[in-house]
Amino acid sequence: MCVTKKKVIAKILKNEILVDNVYKMVVKSEELIFDFKPGQFVNLYSKDKSMLLPRPISVCEIDEENKEITLVFMVVGKGTEEFSRLRENDEVYLMAFLGNGFDLECEGENIIVGGGVGTPPLLELAKRLKGNNKIFLGFRKDVYLIDEFKKYGEVYVATEDGEHGEKGNVIDLMNKYVEKADRIYSCGPKGMLKAVKEYAANNKIEAYLSLEERMGCGFGACVGCAVKIKEDNDKGYKNKKVCVDGPVFKACEVMFDE
Ligand SMILES: Cc1cc2nc3c(=O)[nH]c(=O)nc-3n(C[C@H](O)[C@H](O)[C@H](O)COP(=O)(O)OP(=O)(O)OC[C@H]3O[C@@H](n4cnc5c(N)ncnc54)[C@H](O)[C@@H]3O)c2cc1C
Ligand code: FES
Repeated sequence: MCVTKKKVIAKILKNEILVDNVYKMVVKSEELIFDFKPGQFVNLYSKDKSMLLPRPISVCEIDEENKEITLVFMVVGKGTEEFSRLRENDEVYLMAFLGNGFDLECEGENIIVGGGVGTPPLLELAKRLKGNNKIFLGFRKDVYLIDEFKKYGEVYVATEDGEHGEKGNVIDLMNKYVEKADRIYSCGPKGMLKAVKEYAANNKIEAYLSLEERMGCGFGACVGCAVKIKEDNDKGYKNKKVCVDGPVFKACEVMFDE
């Protein structure tokens, strides 16, 4: 185990509801060193002593000059419910920036594929990628961050009932609108990532997936976040940790319960 990051106090500048159960929080900390790569995450800590473990949340946007971080999170349990109640000028402990981000080398045709609350970490990525971005965003019902993504590429939206964008999912949209791609970058629910992996393999496109597995410690100590990554050994895979080896992995190497 190697814990090199420091827990710092950050001030809440803003915490607003985007759509039902999804919040956008902007935090600021003078103590942070902004050596950041899109795809990395922060650990947020609860003030409730019964919740010792931090909650990992990916970075949606960064303002390095003003030392501000935007996080977008969904309320799913006790920790995120507590964060949703934080108000301007409140403080929160956080550790940043954790994990490995996306490779930004590609200058060609980028496909960015986000699903639900897996969409936010792709915004800073879209901003920093060179080349052309086609961005596919899938949501169950309510959509968010669409206008922000439109600043960085052509955006295509799918929802289950078609109330926003087109009816269907991101793979339907990609089948319709992608003619050529050099790389795919994706984050979202496991089912969607599996489908993106299959799409990339069928079309021979290099792809990277950001996994949001359940975590324990968040810094390599508990093995709570292990995933099977293909490896040339007797077993054919190695268990890797999402928190320190990921959350971004090559799609062709991720074994989804295979
Ligand atoms: C690398 C990474 C990035 C993430 N980025 C985001 C993001 O940008 N926005 C967002 O809304 N959510 C994100 N998540 C999921 C988020 O961490 C969980 O929703 C959150 O930890 C749930 O905490 P809770 O106390 O509200 O829920 P509870 O279910 O009460 O939490 C109990 C425990 O389970 C863990 N846990 C529960 N669900 C998850 C989950 N899906 N992933 C990991 N740990 C979980 C918690 O950390 C905690 O230790 C990310 C997860 C990972 C691993
Ligand atoms: S969360 Fe503990 S090892 Fe990854």
